[in-house]
Amino acid sequence: MRIRKMRVIVIGARGQLGTELCAVYGDTGLVPVDIDTLDVRNDAAVANLIQSAKPDLVINTAAAHNVAECENDPATAFAVNAAGARNVAVACAAVSARLVYISTDYIFSGDRPGIPLIETDLPGPRSVYAASKLAGEHLVAAECPDHLIIRSAAMYGCAPCIAKGGRNFVSLMTHLAATQPEVRVVNDQITTPTCAKALAAQIKLASEKAPPGVYHATCHGECSWYECAREIFDVLGIKTPLLPVATEDVPSTVQRPRYSVLKNKRLEDLGLDIMPHWKDALHEYLHLSTLH
Ligand SMILES: NC(=O)c1ccc[n+]([C@@H]2O[C@H](COP(=O)([O-])OP(=O)(O)OC[C@H]3O[C@@H](n4cnc5c(N)ncnc54)[C@H](OP(=O)(O)O)[C@@H]3O)[C@@H](O)[C@H]2O)c1
Repeated sequence: MRIRKMRVIVIGARGQLGTELCAVYGDTGLVPVDIDTLDVRNDAAVANLIQSAKPDLVINTAAAHNVAECENDPATAFAVNAAGARNVAVACAAVSARLVYISTDYIFSGDRPGIPLIETDLPGPRSVYAASKLAGEHLVAAECPDHLIIRSAAMYGCAPCIAKGGRNFVSLMTHLAATQPEVRVVNDQITTPTCAKALAAQIKLASEKAPPGVYHATCHGECSWYECAREIFDVLGIKTPLLPVATEDVPSTVQRPRYSVLKNKRLEDLGLDIMPHWKDALHEYLHLSTLH
């Protein structure tokens, strides 16, 4: 008798996280889907694809998440991050598939410094991007009973971050260090840099073992963007001057949370938290990227 392999659809398959998820699920009946095959805004196409693939699990990483572009184009942000997420949720519910929707630390206001946020803390989105992702969370929860909403933060991976023009924070820092006389980085926005590879492994474990609901999944520890850059410069031996600056010194059209550190409380309570410390994950990533 042939045993049917678990069938997993990864939406946003060539993105930072999608690429790592495809690696993690490589030995299953994986259906990688990118925007050329499926635009999540097209409800009929989403329904058709999910109906015909009959997946056990769908992981929706698709997002409009260039935060400044979302501010200028709220219609697209909500169409992809909220209505698109709903299309996927409705289709998953119709075939009783489990759905994982990736959300963000940005749904929080960030005005409570020093206390990491848990899943039940009250959201307070400060940007169109954040509001559209929070709307996506609510629509996923409303439409698909078997859902995991996984909030992460400050992600970097080996594949380019498509929404951010192909650069993640690490590659942006190395690029600036190579092309500018000095590099200035904000020292008063605190987050937790999170490696997409570690997050993909965490998502797989949670998908197998966790009950439906909202989960936080970031690396452990916390730092400012400046401290993260300092670590990158030190590990790679970069000598370009690196200067800490305040948010007010960097003109921006976007409000970002000052303190958006997430505590993986629900995963910890279930004994399922396998995320590494941000420095360990960053060192491994930098080591691997210097080998290539
Ligand atoms: N990056 C971060 O720091 C961060 C932090 C917290 C949470 N998140 C969340 O994590 C998820 C993954 O982020 P990421 O960094 O891996 O993003 P990414 O590299 O930009 O990948 C996102 C993928 O979504 C696809 N996509 C965009 N619009 C789509 C649409 N309308 N229909 C179908 N696919 C579409 C993109 O396709 P194309 O290849 O055609 O552009 C891309 O492959 C997102 O939901 C994001 O909100 C990210």
